[in-house]
Amino acid sequence: MKNLLSIEELTAQQIRDLLALGHKLKAERGRHAELPLQGQTWALIFSKSSTRTRVSFEVGISELGGRPMFLSTRDIQLGRGEPISDTARVLGRMIHGAVIRTYEQQEVVDFANYSELPTINALTDAEHPCQILADLLTIEELYGVGSWKDMKIAFVGDGDNNMARSWMWAAKHLGFTLAIGAPAQYMPDEAFRRHLDTDRVIFSTDPVEAARNATVINTDTWISMGQESEKGTKEQHFLPYQVNRELLAHAASGHSVFHCLPAYRGMEITEEILEQFAPVIFTEAENRLHAQKAVLATLANNR
Ligand code: CP
Ligand code: NVA
Repeated sequence: MKNLLSIEELTAQQIRDLLALGHKLKAERGRHAELPLQGQTWALIFSKSSTRTRVSFEVGISELGGRPMFLSTRDIQLGRGEPISDTARVLGRMIHGAVIRTYEQQEVVDFANYSELPTINALTDAEHPCQILADLLTIEELYGVGSWKDMKIAFVGDGDNNMARSWMWAAKHLGFTLAIGAPAQYMPDEAFRRHLDTDRVIFSTDPVEAARNATVINTDTWISMGQESEKGTKEQHFLPYQVNRELLAHAASGHSVFHCLPAYRGMEITEEILEQFAPVIFTEAENRLHAQKAVLATLANNR
């Protein structure tokens, strides 16, 4: 494993290894015997806003012995039109790894190719692999390590966004059932679904059907970064897909609600449900740190 560009390109074994290392690093937080990033500088190149991803990477890189360098595209020449290929070749000669948050998936692929640095996708329009690894770590903490085959996970909301797509690839690799509950026009097209090559991902326009007997019910904002102009239209389509008390009456006993945050109360989730499941939701946020340290350590050791 040289990069983390997507969940799609990982193998099931790579995911299991990252989760095992994430549990270990969480247990030994602050007293790591090895510092795999010692003497290294890792850049965080962000074109979109971030709280959790930025902070967890800056802290994680530091705790593993490295130095994080935050580069907003508002400040560097990339934001004024310098090509990603040139930016990557410059940084490739100076730093040791990169964490990129941007729009097009191709930009992180190009950066990895041109820089020849270990490169991590910190969210694109196509995928959010770091969040999914943190969520998988959280599910293993709650329900036991490797408990995937019998698990039903629901994703209720925008079935075609980065979170939904990363969940779909995770279901393909780990073999859990993933039920997407979304309006028909907010689901991936047939061409994408064919690549999933699995009957474990189920699509339904009925949120109740998706949530029925699910152990984990996930949601995310209806308006992803970059979609602000679609706000009015999307909100109308998504109102029946709110995660609320009525929907959760259909979930399995002992269920949990997951949200990658930031949350929009009264839209995709009610205040009541967000606060009821706050211990889980903020553990997901904390686990960004531990899951990403597993990714950083793995990539640094494979350089
Ligand atoms: N969940 C997540 O990626 O949060 P940020 O946008 O704050 O990084
Ligand atoms: N789907 C959301 C995730 C935010 C962490 C977005 O892309 O804005």
